[in-house]
Amino acid sequence: MTERKKVTLPMLYKKYREGKPITMLTCYDYPTAYFQDQAGVDMVLVGDSLGMTMLGYDSTLPVTMDDMIRHAQAVRRGAPHVWLIGDMPYMSYQPSVETAIRSAGRFMAEAGCDAIKLEGGREMADRMEGIVRAGIPAMGHLGLTPQSASALGGFRLQGKGAEQAARIIEDAKILEEAGAYSILLELVPDRVCQLITERANIPIISLGSGPHANGQLLIYHDMFGLYPKFKPRMAKVYGNAGEVIQNGLKQYVQEVTEGTFPQPENYFGIADEEYERLLEMLD
Ligand code: KIV
Repeated sequence: MTERKKVTLPMLYKKYREGKPITMLTCYDYPTAYFQDQAGVDMVLVGDSLGMTMLGYDSTLPVTMDDMIRHAQAVRRGAPHVWLIGDMPYMSYQPSVETAIRSAGRFMAEAGCDAIKLEGGREMADRMEGIVRAGIPAMGHLGLTPQSASALGGFRLQGKGAEQAARIIEDAKILEEAGAYSILLELVPDRVCQLITERANIPIISLGSGPHANGQLLIYHDMFGLYPKFKPRMAKVYGNAGEVIQNGLKQYVQEVTEGTFPQPENYFGIADEEYERLLEMLD
C-alpha cells in the first residue's frame, strides 16, 4: 500500500463539505491500529469501551485516565496516519472545567492524540468550551452515553419520544456552539439523526443511528465477534475472528496433548559436531 498522508482536521472538513462519508472505528491496541491505518480508516477512537472489551469490566465506569493513556499510546504507535481521538473516561471531566482541560491535555501530550471525545449535552457545554479554548479539538457524544447508562435506564435507544428527541437536537446545537468539531450520535432513531445532521455545520457521526449522518462508527470488537458477552443488534459482523481464534486454540490444546505439535519446522537443532562436543564437555 502507498504511504498515507496524516489525516488532519482540514482533511476531515474537506470530506464533510464534499459529502464524502467519514469512516471511524474504535481501537485499543497496536496490531489492530496497524491494520486500521493500512485499511484507510479516517478517525480512530480509543474508546473507554476498552474497559469492557479489553479489561473485562461490566461497564466503562472503572476505566482510569492511566488506562486510557496506555492504550492510546499503543494505538498511536500502530496508526500514525489516522485522526486519533482519546475518549475521556468517567470522572476525568465531570468534576470541573479545569479537570476536563487537564485530562484532555494528557491525551494530547502523553499519547499523541489529535482530539478528545466527551459524553453529554448542555450540562457539559462549559467543559467542551474550556477544552476547545485550550486548543484541543473536541468531539461531542449524544444519545446513548454509556457513562450515564444508569440514569438513562440502561443501554437502549434514546430520543424515541418527540420531547427527548427535541432535547437531543438542542443539545447538538449547544455543543456545536461550544466549539465541538464533530458530534457522535449513539443509538438515536435514524430520522432524529437526519434532523441533527441537516441542522449542523460540523460532521455528525452515527453509531447505530442510521445512514443520514456524515460518517459511521462501529465498535471493532463487534465487527469481528471478539466480545464474548453480547453483540449489539445494530452492529454488523464483518468476519468471525472470535470463532477462528477459539477453533485455533482448541486445535493447539489437542495437538500438544496428543504430541503432534511441535513439528521440525517449529524448532531448531544443533549441529552434530557441536552436540558431540557439548556431551564431552558435560562428561
Ligand atoms: O467508548 C467507546 O467506544 C464509545 C463508543 C461507544 C462511542 O464511546
